[in-house]
Amino acid sequence: MPTIDQARAWYPADDPVHGFDHVLRVLRMAERLGEELGADQEVIRAAALLHDAAGAVPGPESGRPSHEQASATFAGQILSEEGWSAERVEAVAHCIRAHRFRSLEEPSTLEARILYDADKLDVLGAFGVARTIGYALQAGEPIFAEPSPQFIRSGEATPGEPHSAYHEYLFKLQHVAERLHTEPARQIGQRRAVLLRRFFEELAAEAEAGGE
Ligand SMILES: [Fe+2]
Ligand SMILES: [Fe+2]
Repeated sequence: MPTIDQARAWYPADDPVHGFDHVLRVLRMAERLGEELGADQEVIRAAALLHDAAGAVPGPESGRPSHEQASATFAGQILSEEGWSAERVEAVAHCIRAHRFRSLEEPSTLEARILYDADKLDVLGAFGVARTIGYALQAGEPIFAEPSPQFIRSGEATPGEPHSAYHEYLFKLQHVAERLHTEPARQIGQRRAVLLRRFFEELAAEAEAGGE
């Protein structure tokens, strides 16, 4: 099992969005859910420590595998070197591949559902607001831009339309709480989603008022 100090070295020290403090929050939440739901805590711990270890920071995307694929591959190398069996490596790799909202692979095991939920709870609530703003700034996108009617309808931006933090709220964040998989995470998620919604609705209202 990777140690906390070993895992810390895989993440940027100064990244408020996908840095190690996010990983530690996901680890704590995943272990709490795993305890409550009787999951395999070893798989949970390894998956949480490794889930964003490769390619999660925004940058030139061309030719790079998506971060859930890159992190799953990296996890496979680390755990195989530690002597984990192929079956348990795959259990961890599946959790990591399926942890994204935009993942093509659905979480099909209890451990994968728990990692997904723990990761998503960190985009709701106060840390969710802070991280979404942080991500927009890292990606060179504005905090708020008026979404086009097409974006509101379909989630498809018009040419040249920025993907602001508010766009991310409309496209993804407002739906996250209802797409959590486990009951205890849903309860926490509903509470956190209230703050998230209030923040982004207020943001849009203030932007509109300022434009009068
Ligand atoms: Fe991720
Ligand atoms: Fe994450």
